[in-house]
Amino acid sequence: MSRKRVAVLISGRGSNMAALIEAAKDKNYPAEIALVLSNRPDAGGLDTAKSNGIATAVVDHTKYGKDRAAFDAAVQAVLVQNKIELVALAGFMRLLTAGFVDQWPERMINIHPALLPAFKGLDTHQRALDAGAKVHGATVHFVVPEMDAGPIIVQGAVNVHAGDIEAALAKRVLAVEHRIYPLALKLVAEDRVRVANGRCLIDGAPVPDAGALTPSD
Ligand code: GAR
Repeated sequence: MSRKRVAVLISGRGSNMAALIEAAKDKNYPAEIALVLSNRPDAGGLDTAKSNGIATAVVDHTKYGKDRAAFDAAVQAVLVQNKIELVALAGFMRLLTAGFVDQWPERMINIHPALLPAFKGLDTHQRALDAGAKVHGATVHFVVPEMDAGPIIVQGAVNVHAGDIEAALAKRVLAVEHRIYPLALKLVAEDRVRVANGRCLIDGAPVPDAGALTPSD
């Protein structure tokens, strides 16, 4: 089986990246993490990647000023140089230009800490609490030029408890993220995900329900 070469793009601690690295240690996993790329030289996840023997790259966005296209072109060059086939955004906190996104049709995925299409953007956990949401969670989706808007591949849900606070809710959602991201990348790397009318259809064996991806607490 040829494993798809994946680049994980990060900006920070990289716990989702670490979950993908762990999953890819299984020789039967259909993807290998070939590169971890950060837009911040101080991203903690770079050390985790290095200690797992994974190639790392930094494309420092501050060197490109407001020129997003030039930053994206520099990222693209590194991806091509590393023969990357799939891109996984994992806490990558830069908006990408349409010109870049269009080079990775149905080959770039993102994890977002909310049940899309609810709570796009930032501060998702506090906004879910403020809205009185009774369930919350995380979504892995294909990346399209519009932010947090692409076809949904996998979601995982958590209950919002009475008296929940942001940190506790974020922790439970993060545990879900670490389950659904390796699953979603697996499905994409196995070419089991088709997009029709803006929706993902999954071929083959059934995928666990969102509820089944919820940790016991
Ligand atoms: C994760 O919760 C991820 O869903 C979120 O940032 C965190 C990164 O944590 N992503 C976004 O908010 C993207 N808009 P990590 O670095 O430990 O994976």
